[in-house]
Amino acid sequence: MTADINTPGFWDAAYREDRDNWDMGTPTPVFVDLLERMEMDFRPLGGPDFSSLGRAPRVLIPCSGRGYDALLFAERGWEVTAVDFSAEPLQWLEAERSRRGLDVRVLQEDMFALGGERSPQYDLVLEYTCVCAIEPARRTEFLAFAARVLPPGGALLALLFPVDGRPGGPPFSIDVDTFKQEAARAFALVHESIPDTSVKPRRGKERLLLFTKS
Ligand SMILES: C[S@@+](CC[C@H](N)C(=O)[O-])C[C@H]1O[C@@H](n2cnc3c(N)ncnc32)[C@H](O)[C@@H]1O
Repeated sequence: MTADINTPGFWDAAYREDRDNWDMGTPTPVFVDLLERMEMDFRPLGGPDFSSLGRAPRVLIPCSGRGYDALLFAERGWEVTAVDFSAEPLQWLEAERSRRGLDVRVLQEDMFALGGERSPQYDLVLEYTCVCAIEPARRTEFLAFAARVLPPGGALLALLFPVDGRPGGPPFSIDVDTFKQEAARAFALVHESIPDTSVKPRRGKERLLLFTKS
């Protein structure tokens, strides 16, 4: 029997059996580009200037997998929390974080359970290949979780993939207009673009959205 995608078992097996073809093995080029051009100042996109906080900005990376983006943000001075409920990729992340001497908080948890008593505690939630990995019916729940862990003015940076209307999943295609409508309950959209820095096989199939929490 195939395990349910709502459980770590499904993802553990995919990692163990080398069916992790979403794993690029490198940080996401779109985020590398944004960090290089903007450092922590996302005002050119309509977002916050994280450098003005007077402390390291805090980013939460749900569905981190092996966490190449977690390592990228940590290298750039962010206080990073990576969360994934599968133990497999987190072992790699923990070892790599330690090898590079980087401070990344690695949580093995179901992201939907986050955001209880200590929320809101992050300045930015970074979404990539997370929304497409959960059941489409749970996207509203994902947005509610992101809203829970952010203060008003906090940012949700979503690089939605795939947006090409492909059937089946995971990855489940994301209808951008529906996602924006659902997000509007808690977030204001401040930027939208089709990035030209996507990895080649994903070029034109990704949409970059920056929201701030209302
Ligand atoms: C398609 S993979 C993407 C991983 C990573 N973002 C990347 O691009 O390499 C989806 C990841 O989401 C994790 N995941 C799925 N549902 C989750 C949940 N409810 N809580 C935490 N992690 C979850 C899986 O374990 C898997 O590592």
